[in-house]
Amino acid sequence: MQDALGAIQSVLVLGGASDIATATVERLAADRCRTVVLAGRDMTKLGETADTLQQAGAETVDLVHFDADDPASHAEVIAKVWADHPDLDVVILAFGRLGDQEDLAHDPASAASLAVTNYAGAVSASLAAAEHLRRQAHGTLVIISSVAGERARADNYVYGSTKAGLDAFAQGLGDDLDGSGARVMVVRPGFVRTSMTEGMPDGPMATTADAVAADIVAGIRRGAHTVYSPAKLRPVFAVLKALPRPLWRKIAARR
Ligand SMILES: NC(=O)c1ccc[n+]([C@@H]2O[C@H](COP(=O)([O-])OP(=O)(O)OC[C@H]3O[C@@H](n4cnc5c(N)ncnc54)[C@H](OP(=O)(O)O)[C@@H]3O)[C@@H](O)[C@H]2O)c1
Repeated sequence: MQDALGAIQSVLVLGGASDIATATVERLAADRCRTVVLAGRDMTKLGETADTLQQAGAETVDLVHFDADDPASHAEVIAKVWADHPDLDVVILAFGRLGDQEDLAHDPASAASLAVTNYAGAVSASLAAAEHLRRQAHGTLVIISSVAGERARADNYVYGSTKAGLDAFAQGLGDDLDGSGARVMVVRPGFVRTSMTEGMPDGPMATTADAVAADIVAGIRRGAHTVYSPAKLRPVFAVLKALPRPLWRKIAARR
């Protein structure tokens, strides 16, 4: 439950070592968020993230094994988190994989596996978390989508399509939760310099995990349902989505 001054006191991160999520929770911890649950696959990385968050001010950082690729386990894993922490203010769904479009285009099984992580796993984990948020009648589920889902490009359409599906799902879930006290905030970052994009040349309007974190925290505080990061991507994509396909193919041609 948020404190008397409205500060977020507890957060669960699904994909607990994500750079964007870590930067976000660092900001929350610096503003009195005391309890953090990091859920992910790699306990060593989660431990390192826990150290960072404790230095930022978090008092309790619990680590939980969570694999997005195992949707059948999600309801139980998340129920256990809630049993240990019966009241969570924020859940950040931050896991995801980018993949290499060129490889994925020639490896149908790997493309389907990416869809399981980014879409099927996210649907299952979101629904499991939403159930508890609805029951406690407050809290924000932050779902990290991407502008890559706004209009799929030839050079990353497998990833883009998983984010398009996730984004549509997240909007519907947010509408479904309307009036329950709980809500969904969809985040659409552009190119962010993180572990996911390490070694890649900057995309247009490239930004940092900390800048996205600032936008996420501001969005939670003002009760936003959708956040673009950086914000100028909103009008840019309003135009890009309306472009006739031949023109889109020219400007978003495969690199
Ligand atoms: N960076 C960008 O340019 C960008 C732009 C738009 C949207 N996004 C989205 O933002 C979110 C966070 O990405 P990021 O930039 O912070 O990248 P990141 O640091 O690489 O974080 C991604 C996290 O997902 C976790 N993950 C992957 N597969 C998993 C699985 N099966 N089960 C559990 N966790 C799993 C990874 O953990 P492991 O260490 O276990 O692999 C990693 O901690 C992602 O959804 C991404 O798609 C990123």
